[in-house]
Amino acid sequence: MKILIIGNGGREHALAWKIAQSPLVKKIYCAPGNPGIAEIAECVDIEADNIEGLYNFALKQKVDFTIVGPEDPLVAGIVDRFRDGNLVIFGPNKRAAIIEGSKIFAKTLMKKHGIPTAEFKVFDDIKLAKKHISTSDFPLIIKADGLAKGKGVSVCKTIDEANKYIDDIMRDKIFGPAGDKIIIEEFLSGKEVSILAFTDGKTIVPLSPVQDHKAVNDGDKGPNTGGMGAYTPVPQITLELQCAIEEDILVPVIHAMKRENRLYRGIIYAGLMITSTGPKVLEFNARFGDPETQVLLVQMKTDLVPLLLATTTSKLEDEKIEWNNGASICVIMASKGYPDKYEKGLEISGLEKLKGLDDVYIFHAGTTIRDGKIITNGGRVLGVTARGKNIQNAQETVYDAIQNINFEGAHYRRDIGAKVIYQKS
Ligand code: AMP
Ligand code: GLY
Repeated sequence: MKILIIGNGGREHALAWKIAQSPLVKKIYCAPGNPGIAEIAECVDIEADNIEGLYNFALKQKVDFTIVGPEDPLVAGIVDRFRDGNLVIFGPNKRAAIIEGSKIFAKTLMKKHGIPTAEFKVFDDIKLAKKHISTSDFPLIIKADGLAKGKGVSVCKTIDEANKYIDDIMRDKIFGPAGDKIIIEEFLSGKEVSILAFTDGKTIVPLSPVQDHKAVNDGDKGPNTGGMGAYTPVPQITLELQCAIEEDILVPVIHAMKRENRLYRGIIYAGLMITSTGPKVLEFNARFGDPETQVLLVQMKTDLVPLLLATTTSKLEDEKIEWNNGASICVIMASKGYPDKYEKGLEISGLEKLKGLDDVYIFHAGTTIRDGKIITNGGRVLGVTARGKNIQNAQETVYDAIQNINFEGAHYRRDIGAKVIYQKS
């Protein structure tokens, strides 16, 4: 088979790495890809939002199967375009991807179908939003309705912070039209976990639970990012809890989508808070997570390609996933200043020292090549990933590996996996 992967992050590098191991696959293209992906796939210079360009490329090269990484092309309808042109593609169509594209849609769906989530109100008027918070308890959460590159959510501790965020989104339009409407919702406390599942709209095949680390600094301090590290499995998410999540959240949401005439096929990603009264949904994403995918795929024993195909052709009921023993951890090395402004173009050294190492995988994200040298080109630069016989062991390996890599101002969290290790000892 000829495969096309769309995207250029660590998630797409992990997908390419895993797909390259499938005996079903002869050739992998990635658009636009990155220098890490270029070692295993042919990168083509078409951006992920150029739907017509991607369609024409897939048609011309006779691509058998396309896999979409990021949310923007899904929400814009890339799956509909490919299917209309008789090309096979993995992911939800536009009507289904709205579950990530509009937080108001997702919250309204959950409320209507009794899926546990935080209490909320929707506003399209600044004055009414501000009036509402003048009598609210703090902290509270403010979310832009539309896609905002993972930055459209603020945990506001005071009324001043909340008023400023409302002005930023609704008056100053820092996220453009994505902020025409907002959600103000109840703050939930507990432990966050990401649960991803394949679904063809009938059958649900959950993946191993993943702990993401959204805040930029150790101890979950500082602003939220796209994710600074992850590990799987998550010992606190017991089998019993996984069953409850499947029954109370995954099954109902897939049924709800079907009943709304929005058949969902692809990966459904539930961002959850495990509260004292049970798991509640923070958000749904219509795609693989980043860096969740990096840790999941190095732990997955099963060939990924049949799973992706079965999801797409509604044959998931015959599929099972086998996992490797032990655990995996990914630590993101980010540019100095991320998630705010950061410099690009800094040379990365030491990558060659980790080539061929057992159980260490370097997934590229914000990198590019200049004069034959790999340089930084984004906020999240590399996802250093390791496997081990348990989380502690994987953690030791990952942090040993990271010592070999350098670029000016490189920043990474030193406590990925620490919660589990601390709780166990
Ligand atoms: P979201 O994009 O909706 O998942 O929000 C991004 C992050 O904001 C989440 O990963 C949580 O850390 C935090 N968050 C979102 N909603 C809530 C909530 N209702 N209570 C507490 N934290 C939240
Ligand atoms: N790691 C968070 C996300 O992929 O949205």
